[in-house]
This record gives sequence, C-alpha cells and structure tokens, in this order.
Amino acid sequence: MNRLKEDGLMNSFEIRAKDGLARIGKFRTKHGTVTTPLLMPVVHPGKSEIRPRELVDDFKFQMVITNSYIISQREKFRSVAESDGVHALLDFDGPIMTDSGTFQMYFHDLPDHEIDPLQIVRFQRNIGTDIGTILDAFSAPDAGREQVEKDVEVSLERAKISVPEKGEMYLAGTVQGGIYPDLREHSAKVLANLDFDVHPIGGIVPLMEQYRYADAVRAALAAKKHLPPDRPVHLFGCGHPMFLALATALGSDFFDSASYAKFAEDDRMLLTTGTVHLHQLRELPCDCPVCSATTADDLKQMKKPERRLSIMKHNLYVTSAEMRRVRQAILDGKLLDLAAERARAHPSLYEALHILLENVEQIERAHPVGTTPSIFYTGPETVLTVPFYRFHSRLIRSYPFRKSRQLVLVPHIADRPFAETTPTIIEAIRETSPDTTLLAFVTPFGIVPWELEHIHPVQQSIFPQHIDTDTLSIAEARVKEFIQKVDVPEILWFDRSTPTNALASAIEGEISTHHFGSASDVIEQLARQRRQDEQWTLSKLRAVLSYQWGLDVSKLPSDVEIEISKGTGKIRYVRLEDDLLFTMVPMTGLLAPTLSGGALLMKMGLPTRYVIKMHEDAVEFVRKGKSALAKFVIDADEELRAGEEVIVQDPEGNLIAVGRAVLSGTEMLTFQRGVAVNIRHSMKQ
Ligand code: GUN
Ligand code: ZN
Repeated sequence: MNRLKEDGLMNSFEIRAKDGLARIGKFRTKHGTVTTPLLMPVVHPGKSEIRPRELVDDFKFQMVITNSYIISQREKFRSVAESDGVHALLDFDGPIMTDSGTFQMYFHDLPDHEIDPLQIVRFQRNIGTDIGTILDAFSAPDAGREQVEKDVEVSLERAKISVPEKGEMYLAGTVQGGIYPDLREHSAKVLANLDFDVHPIGGIVPLMEQYRYADAVRAALAAKKHLPPDRPVHLFGCGHPMFLALATALGSDFFDSASYAKFAEDDRMLLTTGTVHLHQLRELPCDCPVCSATTADDLKQMKKPERRLSIMKHNLYVTSAEMRRVRQAILDGKLLDLAAERARAHPSLYEALHILLENVEQIERAHPVGTTPSIFYTGPETVLTVPFYRFHSRLIRSYPFRKSRQLVLVPHIADRPFAETTPTIIEAIRETSPDTTLLAFVTPFGIVPWELEHIHPVQQSIFPQHIDTDTLSIAEARVKEFIQKVDVPEILWFDRSTPTNALASAIEGEISTHHFGSASDVIEQLARQRRQDEQWTLSKLRAVLSYQWGLDVSKLPSDVEIEISKGTGKIRYVRLEDDLLFTMVPMTGLLAPTLSGGALLMKMGLPTRYVIKMHEDAVEFVRKGKSALAKFVIDADEELRAGEEVIVQDPEGNLIAVGRAVLSGTEMLTFQRGVAVNIRHSMKQ
C-alpha cells in the first residue's frame, strides 16, 4: 500500500463545482452537512436578539459562529456550556463554530496571559463545538514587519500544540502574516502540514474597516497558494455583502459577520452596493421582506429597539441573498462578472478586483477546463478573465505553425463563425499551406487563428461594437505577442469597420503591413499553391492537438481521416484505417480520445501532465470502466487542470483507460474521497 492514502480518514469537505479559485462544497459536521460558500452570522451567547434557529429557518443561513472566550468568561454561560454543551446554550442543533478570543485580545488590548492557548482549545472541545479555533496572535495592520514576524511565530507555535488537543472537534488553524504576502505564504505552508480541518485567514478586519481591500486580496491569495485544497478557507470577519463575491473569488468558503448587528446599532443598512445610513434615505432601495413592508419614513419614526431589529433583519436578508447569488454565479461560471459588478460600489473594491485579475495565473490553475459558459463583455475586466487569458496563453504556448511567408489578419468581433462572415477568405486559405500563409482574426480578446475558431470561448463570447481602450490595448499586446511567436516577414491587413481595426497602426511600426479593403484584394496576394482539400483539415487538427495537449504534431500520421461537419465546418471524428481515434466535443471544440486515440497520444509523446497513474488495487476496476477514484491515484502532474482529457495507466505505464479529469493533479494527490477521472473508454477484459 505504498502511496495509497490512509483509508480511515474521512474527508469532511467535498468540492462539487468550481469557478476559478471559488468552489461549491459540501462540509460535513456532526450537526449536519452545509453547502459552501456560506456565511455564519455571529451570535452572542446571551444577547442576540435573533436566535440561531431563526437565522436558519427564516433567513436561510446554515451555520452560526459564537465566541468561546465570552462563554468561558461568564459563569451563567460557562456552566450551561460545560454541562449541556454549546448547542444547548444557543438552543440550536445545527453546526456551530466558535472563535477563541484572539480578536478580543487585540480589540481590548488584553494582556498576553489573559487567555491560555491550550485551555481555550480544550474548552471548545469540551463544550462540543463543531469547529473550534486556535488562539492565534492578531497582527494590527500597521504593525511593522518585525512585530508581524513575531505574531506569526507565536500563532504557528500555538497551532502546533493545539492540534493534539482537538479530539473529535474540527480545528481551525488561522493564517496570520499581516500585509506581508511572504509571511502569509510561510504561515500557510506550516499550517498545511498540520492536521487542521479549516483555515481561517486572520487579521483582515481592520483592513476591511479602512477599505484596504487590495491588501486583503494580496494576503488571501498568498495564503491560498499553499493551503490544501480539501480544507475550507474562512475569511475572518469579512461579511459585507458588497465584498462577498470578490472574497469568494479569492477561494474563501466560509465567512462570518457581526456587521449585521453592529451596523444596525447606528441605523446603517448593508446593501450590495455599499452601506447607507437610514437618514440618507427617502426611499428604501431594497426588496427584502422588511423593506417591502415598510417605508423609510416609518422606519425612521420607529422606536430605537424596533428600528434596530428591523435594520438587523434587513441586513441579514441582504447578506443571505447575496450569498445565494454568489453560489449560483459559481455554478454558472460567472462569479467574476458578479465581482466586477460589485466592484463598482467603491474605488477600493475596484482596485482590489484588479489585484485579483493581476493574479489570473493563480486563478487559471484552479479553473476547470471544459466549462462552456457564454461570456458577455461587461467592461475592461472581461478580457482579463480566465477563459480569454487561458485561450491566449495556450495559443502562445502551442500554436504549431511558424515562419510562413505571410500572415493575413482580419479584424473581427467574433460574433459569428468566421466562415459565415469572411467566406471567401476562408475558402482561399484552403488553397494555401501553413508554410506559406497563416490566417488569424484580430478580436477584442486577442488573436484567433482560423484553425482554432471552434474552441471555447471564441464562439461563445459577445462583444459590442464599442470597445473600451483598456481592452484594445490588451488585444494589441496579445496580437503583438502572436506575431512574434509566428515570426512572419509580412502582414496582409484586411481593413474592416470593426473596433479592432484600430490596432493596425500599432502593428505597422513593427512589421511590414499591407492594407486591403476587400477580401478579393487580399486573396489576390495569397501565395496559393492548389492543395489537396484534406490538407487544410489536417492543419486544423494539428492546431487543435497542439493547443489541447501540447503535442508535437509532426508525429501525427498523415493518413488520418478527418470528418468535418458540413454545416459548421467543425471537426467531428478522426479515424485511422477505420479505427475511431477522437470525437470532438461540440461546445468546447476539444477532442475526446477513444482507447485507440489514447494509444496514439502516448505514441506521439503525450506530456506527462495528461497521464494519471493508478494504484494496482484499482487497475481492475478502472479497466472495467469504473471511475478512477482519487484515493487510488499514485501519480498525477500538478500542472494538470480539472476537466482535461487524460489517459489512465497502471503502475507500469500501460494504458488502461481514457477519460476526463474531475480534479486537478494536485487535488488528485490530496483528496481521500471522490472521483479523480470519469472514464470514457477502458480496456474491458
Ligand atoms: N476574528 C476576526 N479576525 C480574527 C483573527 O485574525 N483571528 C481570530 N481567531 N478571530 C478573528
Ligand atoms: Zn431590506
């Protein structure tokens, strides 16, 4: 059982869907299973006006968080909690998380010995909390690096000694490190190797209060790089509805919020567009049950306790609804659109969104291949999101044709198949060869070589005829990168009245460019050489094979037969001597291999990134076509993205099946439960 993972360990967290770093998960506790991302309202053991049961039944929260330090300090709470448990104290049988008093220590500047780090963990365990939290050391946002380093070391030391105390309780190990990404990374690395169940990211509250969202984003992304994918991440104290979409896009699964009550205390109302004071309002810009049943004037005239309760309820409704919207957005693959919309609420949020997008490489690693949402242009962020970034970076990495005599560039907004909008040029290209001529479209998201026009997101994206200048400058950079990559001496530019036509002038300075006003003029300049019709479909297949698996396409047998759909021009099937090798998945434009296709991929030198090795105990199952389970994966590449088409091998490297990865390579090696590869075809015996 060499690399087989320990069997006794149950995963408490299972991931069901992903959108970038964000995920939909199921978290199992002794008091029920919850769906993440979720927000836990903070409840006070004694004075919360809205009880946990009501938070679940009426507001659709799933879990609450309370404070074990406060419980331990008051005899009347402590005695009930110690004898009957925290669930009895809160009169709630759903999942409860407790915090440790870290924040109280910071906020009230309590002396170091005020709370014993081991005792508070034992206390949480003894009162039966579902998730307890270590006593981490909170760093103030303006603490110097030296102080933060000390806090980190104290937190990590306490983390180490706390783990053996957790018993049956899940334990949360908080990542500190202030505004220093390297300290966040260091903390996360150490904590990842300890037996924690949840990882909060701490020290964020004061950043939020000062609108330093960008610092919060940097801190969370740094931590996230090293936290194990099978443990939920909790962004401590970030429950404002305008931040939830962006915070989820950072890969956070848990949130908590005391703001709903704190803000209600002085008549502040939470909205997805920010916070407003009731006195600023003549109308209530909200459709929650509270706001629907009253008016701004009536609310203002209520007695304080009644008004506070109404606003508290409003704040909870708004927060809960946003959490649901966030979950649906993940399922739709549109979380970044939602985050971008929310970012319009405040310049600091907008800045934070751009920090997130600067880290698109990190997000791309986590984002599954093969999801096919339609993408609408919503502003300058659109072309920076994963689908377009991934398309361009894979294109640059793998486009197989270079050093042709000429490159034909056609500005386009990719609104319809190119064969429909520029049929004569596409026809003419069939008579040339990649050795002499390349054809590519200049779109608002960059270059699309005509061979790759069926790959998502090319045909699934909708851009307007008016494009902002940020988008155009990104397109320009991408076009230039492509031109460098293909290394041609001459460009034939087809002038068309579409926004990306403006990019011609940027390119002219770099390379000899000839303008043409009509397709027939372009065609006259093509270096034609009457080719066999199969040759151009072969170019198309080569480009796709290279794009999808980074294959050396010179090794592709030249006698493969390619069946093209008459209506769409898409590849449908690829055969070799009547043996089916690949079918194309219509929505993704990517190929799914058969077993023969898998064997050919191996022969062509398929990069190990796309190869999964199974433990011998699982080989028989997988051969029979059963799913390849994560716990039996003995080798997978950390560069493998979820959703890719892969081949599955036995420990000796023999092909046993082909299928689609459900998890990334890193996740396959981490997860104890769940499917790693859905098998499409196997060596049935
Ligand atoms: N609540 C808000 N911030 C923090 C934090 O950094 N640590 C803990 N334990 N609780 C918090
Ligand atoms: Zn409302």
